Amino acid sequence: MTDQNDDRSQAEPRAIDCVQGLAALEEGSVDLAFADPPFNIGYDYDVYHDKHDDDRYLNWTREWGEGIVRALKPNGTFWLAIGDEFAAELKMIFQRELGLVCRNWVVWYYTFGVNCVRKFNRSHAHLFYFVKDANTFCFNDETIRVPSARQLIYADSRSNPTGRLPDDTWILRPQDVSGGFPASDDVWWVSRVCGTFKERAGWHGCQMPEKILGRIIKACSNEGDLVLDPFSGSGTTLAVAKKLNRRYMGFELSPEYAERARDRLAAIQPGDPLEGGEDPKVDPSAPPRRRSRRKFRDPDDRESSLSGKLFPL
Ligand SMILES: C[S@@+](CC[C@H](N)C(=O)[O-])C[C@H]1O[C@@H](n2cnc3c(N)ncnc32)[C@H](O)[C@@H]1O
Repeated sequence: MTDQNDDRSQAEPRAIDCVQGLAALEEGSVDLAFADPPFNIGYDYDVYHDKHDDDRYLNWTREWGEGIVRALKPNGTFWLAIGDEFAAELKMIFQRELGLVCRNWVVWYYTFGVNCVRKFNRSHAHLFYFVKDANTFCFNDETIRVPSARQLIYADSRSNPTGRLPDDTWILRPQDVSGGFPASDDVWWVSRVCGTFKERAGWHGCQMPEKILGRIIKACSNEGDLVLDPFSGSGTTLAVAKKLNRRYMGFELSPEYAERARDRLAAIQPGDPLEGGEDPKVDPSAPPRRRSRRKFRDPDDRESSLSGKLFPL
């Protein structure tokens, strides 16, 4: 970790509108950006109500999206987290209008969704993996390889001893499949950060799991690179970047969220382990805690919430 990063840890994330923040960045200065924007589904953040006319939301996406593309280095990478409602439109904006190249459309299957009342329960979000240049980008496959089925199950002597790259595929819930999946399975099997998990900061309803950001940052940046999160929220991206010895920068509209994220960053050190238990169904380090009613982020959640039926899967 450089001195510069130590200085930044005092100031990041900045309490600023990301459109402004991005416009002030030096062109071509960011190695990796990760954005988990409001999904335009009516979630109430501290100082932002997440429900606008569709066209306004899409035009705003174009605005901050242009800022991201401008800020990325020619070999830079951009990951976008988005829900079902606008996944298709946002992919078109970043790919067709803003000229990024989509390398993967990852489906993050999460456990601990919330039961819906009159339709299938939602248990996934979309993670788009874009690069600026189709041929030149950072992809450290050796940092994220997982054991293959040949290694784990078949003891096949022909298996590659370094394992294989993780999938980007749909996966059934473990409880729907005979035998379930071992914790070592090679799927993006990471629970949402639930209310009872030790990892949960407790003051931001949309906290991303550190393990999701860990995989992205390890694969798509190198130590010392600059990682940017324009919607830093509870500060997960910056926290993981700091732990993994990257430089980091974040923008957050809410001064309170930004302040609390700075506290979170101050409490961690480069090299600290990422949060999240090995078993994605439970966090063994979590003390039992009473469940409280809370605001949910997606419409399915709200549907259950309004009916008073909250059943973690
Ligand atoms: C989905 S949350 C991000 C959560 C984050 N990934 C985490 O792990 O905590 C979106 C965040 O964007 C912030 N936000 C909304 N509009 C913004 C803007 N124009 N500029 C910067 N931040 C904004 C909200 O306050 C909210 O904290």
